[in-house]
Amino acid sequence: EKNGFDHFMLKEIYEQPSAITDTYRGRLLVDDGIIRMAGVDDNLERFLNAKRIVIVACGTSWHAGLVAEYIFEDLARIPVEVEYASEFRYRNPIINSDDVVIAISQSGETADTMAAIKLAKEKGAFVFGVCNVVGSSISRETNAGAYTHAGPEIGVASTKAFTTQITVLTLIALKLAKAKGSISNTDFHMHLRELETIPGKIEIALNSNEHIKKIAFKYKDVRNCLYLGRGFNFPVALEGALKLKEISYIHAEGYPAAEMKHGPIALIDEEMPVVVIATRKGHYEKVVSNIQEIKSRQGKIIGIVTEGDTSVRDLADFVIEVPDTIEALTPLVTTIPLQLLSYHIAVMLGKNVDQPRNLAKSVTVE
Ligand code: M6R
Repeated sequence: EKNGFDHFMLKEIYEQPSAITDTYRGRLLVDDGIIRMAGVDDNLERFLNAKRIVIVACGTSWHAGLVAEYIFEDLARIPVEVEYASEFRYRNPIINSDDVVIAISQSGETADTMAAIKLAKEKGAFVFGVCNVVGSSISRETNAGAYTHAGPEIGVASTKAFTTQITVLTLIALKLAKAKGSISNTDFHMHLRELETIPGKIEIALNSNEHIKKIAFKYKDVRNCLYLGRGFNFPVALEGALKLKEISYIHAEGYPAAEMKHGPIALIDEEMPVVVIATRKGHYEKVVSNIQEIKSRQGKIIGIVTEGDTSVRDLADFVIEVPDTIEALTPLVTTIPLQLLSYHIAVMLGKNVDQPRNLAKSVTVE
């Protein structure tokens, strides 16, 4: 069942190139220059007439929603709000009949997300689901949807569900951008070609596994860890922190890199490892200066950098390289080393990686 891997989580991390290829199948038609998604095509007018998109989800799926917010607003120029489903359902939200609500859920069984969907439907919104489990409750309750086709995810810590959710949402954003004319033809085709290279780039990112193991060994006994990222990679920082918390029980927090000076910088001393996503595209110089601030306070720096980077390497205690890609797609590669880092730390600490304490794979209670 685990295909030779020690844990489902590791198997699922390594499945990401093929899972994303499955997400693309029949949808990403690079040679024809089209993205085909029946759930979007059949409801194109609803999407194009939407004044805004509201995304509801929990946990890792909520992080995928945050990445999607950046992608939708950047490419399709549609305002997006991302809400924790649990908050949305209890705060009398303003939802209009011309809003599109996207609910993201790997299991399709999360009680809070289901309740948010029901509320949005009562208010007349069109609800689109992004689920992994075919025939799940949420996939049946939504008006339309697109499956991630990641295959079964057994590990409680979500990995391939996250990257395939981002993949589906990117396809939708590009499709809408094309239909709206908010992206040029050249840019659209460039994005399609680049999407096609992502599974191969994730393979390359996975090749850092042994190097990441060494970094994990070095930091496995810390009590706290900070994760920083900016722009498209800010939600990746949140996701990296969640992965570490869930399976290793180390306290971790994710922050937008520039927020550090508004509080968290006070935590930094020689005991504090800081994982910084500092890829070349996306506010690189600003992130490098954040790294300098951490270094001058003796913080330990683990940089997630673009292949061939030298500036961060000079400052950091460790760097982990990922292949270059266009900025909007960087989360798909920068996520990989963070998954591996938390996996190895948890294994070294002897934790139950696939079934961490107090957690269930699908949270069907409030
Ligand atoms: O099945 P869902 O995507 O609706 O689940 C949402 C969260 O419960 C889930 O992502 C949780 O945060 C994971 N354990 C994260 O790894």
